[in-house]
Amino acid sequence: MKSSNDPTLEQGLAVVRTVADLRRTVAAFRKAGRTVGLVPTMGALHEGHISLVKGALERGDIPVTSIFVNPTQFGPNEDFAAYPRDEQGDFDKLRDAGCRIVFAPSKDEMYPGQQLTTVTVTGITDGLCGPLRPGHFQGVATVVSKLLLMAMPDRAFFGEKDYQQLQVIKRMVRDLSMPFEIVGMPTVREADGLAMSSRNRYMNPTERAVATGLYRELNAVAKAVRAGASCTAATAEASKALLAGGFDKIEYLTVVDAESLEPLEKVSGPARVIAAVRLGRTRLIDNIAA
Ligand code: PAF
Repeated sequence: MKSSNDPTLEQGLAVVRTVADLRRTVAAFRKAGRTVGLVPTMGALHEGHISLVKGALERGDIPVTSIFVNPTQFGPNEDFAAYPRDEQGDFDKLRDAGCRIVFAPSKDEMYPGQQLTTVTVTGITDGLCGPLRPGHFQGVATVVSKLLLMAMPDRAFFGEKDYQQLQVIKRMVRDLSMPFEIVGMPTVREADGLAMSSRNRYMNPTERAVATGLYRELNAVAKAVRAGASCTAATAEASKALLAGGFDKIEYLTVVDAESLEPLEKVSGPARVIAAVRLGRTRLIDNIAA
């Protein structure tokens, strides 16, 4: 069938590689009266990402998914080179989910020439993953700013699994008066409770069996602190159980205020139980409401 060159008249997924093509394609949908929902990703898509696309569709937005493994948010000893990549598989999943535009730029398209500008969110990046992954949130805030300005969506969708990232992005958008709604979507879990993540594929079957313990212990902490236990006592007990259950290292397991991410000793308002743990070569993060 001959292409009409008007993506609003076609079904299916438009693959765009340049900012100019992204803007042209988004503009065609806007001209047709449609709103736009951006789903930023690094690819290796799973049901968690697809739930973000569905979130956009449920709000009546044209879903635009970006796929870009952003080098500036990986530390020198992290898994940038090994990060799973499956572009064709991702396109197929997006097409099936009803996504209409995928933006899959090259590194030069995202970062043309020397880049002298970065976006830094302070305070809420001081704890949790912040000190453990120096430069990570600056890389995230900068690339997300660029993606938002490239796509100019009405809304952008992020998973609650990366809870600190979600709060950083909400704060950035608020502080910089960016005209975008940031929508946090619930974590999608495997049947045994493990939060879906592109990095889960790094685990061998033994590690995968151990990994289920993380969600169980997050729930144990949430239950205890809701019943009035001290957060320090509840998280110490859960950390002990995780190590006994086969985890290699607890980077943190704590209870924080849901917005400021300040550590709490007692829970009296919205709070999250949040953890980063190591299992073999895999770093798992997860969180739930306390
Ligand atoms: O959550 C992710 O996959 C990434 O941090 C994001 C938001 C796409 C920025 O590169």
